[in-house]
This record gives sequence, structure tokens and C-alpha cells, in this order.
Amino acid sequence: MRLTLVGTGYVGLVAAVCFAKLGHDVIAVDREPIIRGLQENKLNIWEPQLEQELADVSAKGNLRFETDVVKASADADALMVAVGTPTRPDGHTDLGHIHEVLAQLMQSTTCPPFVIIKSTVPVGTCDELEASLLAAGLHTEVVFNPEFLRQGSALNDFMEPDRIVFGCKTPQAETLLRELYDGIEAPIHVCERRSAELVKYASNAFLAMKISFANMMSDVCEGYGADIRHVMSGVGADRRIGPEFLSAGVGYGGSCFSKDLQALLTTGKLIGRSLPLLEAVAKVNDQRIPRMIAKLISLWGNPLGKRLCVLGISFKPNTNDVRDAPFLTLLAQCERHGIEVQAYDPVVRQVGAKTVKVLESPYTAAATADAVLIMTEWPQFAELDWPYLLHLMRQPLVLDGRNLLPSGVISQIVDVVKAVYVPVGR
Ligand code: UGA
Repeated sequence: MRLTLVGTGYVGLVAAVCFAKLGHDVIAVDREPIIRGLQENKLNIWEPQLEQELADVSAKGNLRFETDVVKASADADALMVAVGTPTRPDGHTDLGHIHEVLAQLMQSTTCPPFVIIKSTVPVGTCDELEASLLAAGLHTEVVFNPEFLRQGSALNDFMEPDRIVFGCKTPQAETLLRELYDGIEAPIHVCERRSAELVKYASNAFLAMKISFANMMSDVCEGYGADIRHVMSGVGADRRIGPEFLSAGVGYGGSCFSKDLQALLTTGKLIGRSLPLLEAVAKVNDQRIPRMIAKLISLWGNPLGKRLCVLGISFKPNTNDVRDAPFLTLLAQCERHGIEVQAYDPVVRQVGAKTVKVLESPYTAAATADAVLIMTEWPQFAELDWPYLLHLMRQPLVLDGRNLLPSGVISQIVDVVKAVYVPVGR
């Protein structure tokens, strides 16, 4: 199948590479400087295996690059759109990038028979897009096919998904999508477009709700001397609940959960419905960093002039993405309290803020610090030489914001080094 895919961000590039791997003839479209980089196999995102897979499918000729949407989609069986849909300051979703793509198609008299929207869009968007294409004389079915990729495991999630969702109107669209995903073993859910659009938002909202629930319970555990890990493993063992996304910590970050929760709240408002459960999910998350700072202040007394070593900048391990990372909220709040931040991350080398020093090694970041805070659960942080790291600090205090350190390391730093170890929810 000939597929043209517009947008080469995390979702678009991973999808382009994976559809090419499945044997389709894929043309990926983006702006000039990005395409130039991709043609030289240079990525501006860091995702495990992506660079190698991109090189393989490009060498086989299954993936090519273009900058002109109309030219790239002239002979395509379908055009897939995977451009960003950020939230505007008023809480509404900005569909500007999608409209730009459609405006380019409308300059032409022909258009592929199917336009597949992969970007996350508010309910009703596909209906509107199809109507505007029709008004421009283009008879195209707009289909919605959400993505459920997690950064850091995106290629694997694409090739081995829990489910694939098609939101379409005609059997022809369903046949096309089935052909596109041929080779991937997963249950396929076919429904009308509006339901598919909501599946995406509801899934992310539900996952965020699980995390906020675990975080809320972690506060109860701290108050009563219970252990959140044991509570959640007991809860998650119920198959109706499931064990994943129940890890308490510094709160969820990233470009998806907060954005999609906000978009869903706005969707509710547009029909006069408040969604109090989702408001509470966001509120619990917003309290996580202030709670971390409060713990530090209660241990330090006066925070002014204290130095905090932060391990982990990206919003989760195996990515260099810092969008909406809890680290950024922490940084702003440290600044307000006069706390200096020295940070280390295995892949993030700079943050667009002057008030933070990003250092080359966890040990230089810990030197002369008054506490170390684990913000991201990079597994290599558990392997550090903790006694040495603590020895470099002004005060041996560890806040484990992700409950990452194994019991062996904890007993070593508490019993041998006499450091103070503060986990979450226990
Ligand atoms: C999320 C969803 O998991 C994907 O299914 C979805 O496709 C994607 O958003 C999207 O809409 O594009 P992602 O944001 O890449 O994926 O990362 P997650 O693994 O979901 O983690 C999100 C945040 O939740 C991270 O900050 C992570 O540290 C935090 N988290 C996750 C917890 O605090 N506790 C947990 O138990 C799990």
C-alpha cells in the first residue's frame, strides 16, 4: 500500500518507520530542515531502536521523505496526519497544524480517497474535517485511528499493541485500515469516528486517574506507616483493576496526560457538563511537587541557599523529552524558595532555564548538595556508587521520588553511611 504520512514527531516518525517495516511504501512529509536531517538519518528525538530501524527501512527503499504534501500524496492510497495538536491557553485544542495540511490538499483538485487522522483530536473533529474537504470539492473519507504509544517503548508498542482502534464510516475504510495493519497481531475495535476520538481521551484520562489514585493513597500510607508498594500490588492483583500505572511518585508528566485531561474537561464544558473526577485527578497531580518541597523544607528547616541535586530531568526514562516534565515544576518552585538546583540526566544535556546547572555526571551533580532527589526512574540510578555519591554531599539526604532504590542499596546508605532516606508512600 502507498501511504503518505504528514508529521515526523514521536508519533509520526515511529508510525512511518513501522508501516515501512510492515512492507508498505511510505512517504513521510515535514518541513524542510527536519526532512533534510531525516534524509541524513539524523533524529532530533531520542527513542530506543528508532535510529537503526529508520536506517534499515530507508536503505530498503520503503521509506522516503518529502516536503510537499500534494506532491507526496498524488498517488497515495491514504494520507495519514500525525501533526501536533497542543492545548491553547483558553483550554481548547489547537487544530492549526491539521488545518494547514488540509489547506494544502485543497489547493489541488485530487486527494487520496482516505485521510487518516492519527493526531489526538476533540470529538467531532473528523466530521468537521470531512465536511470542509467536501466543501472544497474533495470526496475523501476522514478516518480516525488513535495511537497508544508510550515514549521510550514506542516501536514495541506499535508492533505489539493491546488493541487497534478504527473510527470509520464505510466498510471500504475498514478494509483499507485492516490492510494497513496487516502483520500486526492485535484485537481490532471498529466503531464510529466520534467514539474512536473519545477512546483516545478516555484512555489517557483513565491512566492518569490510576496514577493520581496511587499518589493519593501514598499520602494515606505515609500518615499511617503502611507501604504504598504493597497496597498497590495487592490492589492491582485484581484483574478488574490491573497492576500497571499504580506507581506512586512525583506525579505524571509528559505532553499527553495533562493536555488530554484538559481537552476532555473543555469537551465537557462545551456541552455544559463538569467532569469532577477528572478535575480531582489533575488536582492530586498538581499537589505532588509541592509535597516534595514541603518534605525537603521540613527536613532542612530553612531552604534558602540550600543546594538540591536532582537525578532525572526527562518526564520518564528512555526519552529525552522534557515537555511538561515534573522536573520543570520542581525547578520553578525551588527558585521561589531560594533552593539551588544541580541536575543530571543520562540523555538530557540542557534545559532552557538559566537557574539550573545540568552536569555531566551524577557525582558532579551531587557534589556539595544538601539533598539528592530522584525524579525519573532511570534504572542506572539504582546502580550508582551511592556511598561515594553521599560522601560528596554537604548533607547525606536522599528523597526517592520514584521508590527506585532497591532494599540492598537502602540498607547500605542508611546503616553504613548513616544517610537519611525518604521514599514515597511508606
Ligand atoms: C501516554 C500513554 O501511556 C500512551 O498510551 C499514549 O499513547 C501517550 O500517552 C499519548 O497520548 O501519546 P507517555 O506519555 O509516553 O504515554 O508515557 P507514560 O508511560 O504513560 O507515562 C506518563 C507519565 O506518568 C510519566 O511521567 C510517568 O513517570 C508517569 N507514571 C506512569 C507514574 O507516575 N506512575 C505510573 O505508575 C506510571
